[in-house]
Amino acid sequence: MTIIAPHGGKLIQQFNPDYNTSNIELEIELDAFALSDLELIAIGGFSPLTGFMSERDYHSVVHSLRLENGTVWSIPITLPVKEGVTDSFSKGKEAKLVYNGEVYGVITITEWYSPDKSLEAASVYKTTDVAHPGVKKLFERPDTYVAGPIVLTKRLDRGRFQTYHLDPVQTREQFKSNGWKTVVGFQTRNPVHRAHEYIQKSALEIVDGLLLNPLVGETKSDDIPADVRMESYEVLLEKYYPEDRVSLAVFPAAMRYAGPREAIFHALVRKNYGCTHFIVGRDHAGVGDYYGTYEAQTIFEQFSEEDLDIRPLFFEHSFFCKECGNMASTKTCPHNSESRVILSGTKVREMLKNGEVPPKEFSRPEVVEVLIRGMQQVSV
Ligand code: ADX
Repeated sequence: MTIIAPHGGKLIQQFNPDYNTSNIELEIELDAFALSDLELIAIGGFSPLTGFMSERDYHSVVHSLRLENGTVWSIPITLPVKEGVTDSFSKGKEAKLVYNGEVYGVITITEWYSPDKSLEAASVYKTTDVAHPGVKKLFERPDTYVAGPIVLTKRLDRGRFQTYHLDPVQTREQFKSNGWKTVVGFQTRNPVHRAHEYIQKSALEIVDGLLLNPLVGETKSDDIPADVRMESYEVLLEKYYPEDRVSLAVFPAAMRYAGPREAIFHALVRKNYGCTHFIVGRDHAGVGDYYGTYEAQTIFEQFSEEDLDIRPLFFEHSFFCKECGNMASTKTCPHNSESRVILSGTKVREMLKNGEVPPKEFSRPEVVEVLIRGMQQVSV
């Protein structure tokens, strides 16, 4: 059985715990964002990238959503360092990549450059407004980008949810041994509510397996913490999903909130994990009103099937409709908004924090129970 080819043709593998770092003098301090990028490059999640982006790739991605060689890539993957850090750099030198005093990897420095961040924000996020969490992060991070290939020398300790940290090699192996020829990937930074469940299961009607692939890297502070979400996924899968059709594995990336561009990125990365299909629903990876409801779907029209290979599956806004008596979407339900059970993310988080139970048409009671417990612990 063949599994879909990784983006760019080759699954990048750059983890080497035996790599000798003892003679390397230079050090670069990573933030949590860069640490997750380092790991994803090394485990092949970001194939074909082998390191942090060169200036030419960076410009090409910002301007034309492609690497310099023409391969589609929609989000810059960069390593920002503080002013002065580069004074001791020279091209070809190695630097240790350090987080919280521990060495996690090594970069071979090929160049460093000053980005035009306003241009990056306007192109990638479609706004320069620092109220946008992705743009805020972009401007908060240092102003010089260092480029070069990396090696990961140490894996992160994930505690209780370690078993869900599967690398692309492992998910690919799992899909093969399950005999899944087609697999749909589902990105989320939220608990799985009924609307998510509805679009996942609608997709599952036409493919062999579902990869529930929640993002667990850095998110904005009012999103529900990953540990709380993980427990909610466990109880949901146990009760409502067929065991032999679903794989739960986390996506250790940071959230960019870049809407349409991030949807392309999310799809390509899931191809690296072995998915043949990818769900893009309403306002995918969006925040506030920065993007149109279906902009993350229409952006796919810019690319050919060969460009992406993975197939997007688009879903319209979904909800429970009291008149229909079932889950439906704006595509399938003829009733008006009064019949539809729709709650905003902000409203739901507020309810959970106050111990209020959202209606069962919105979220499964077992999920709500975990979330209320988790959110109350978080806010203590
Ligand atoms: S995000 O990472 O894309 O921001 P989120 O959890 O909000 O995560 O959404 C996960 C996926 O479900 C996205 O593809 C999103 O478009 C889709 N989605 C979320 N809610 C709905 C809904 N009510 N109807 C249709 N699609 C939805």
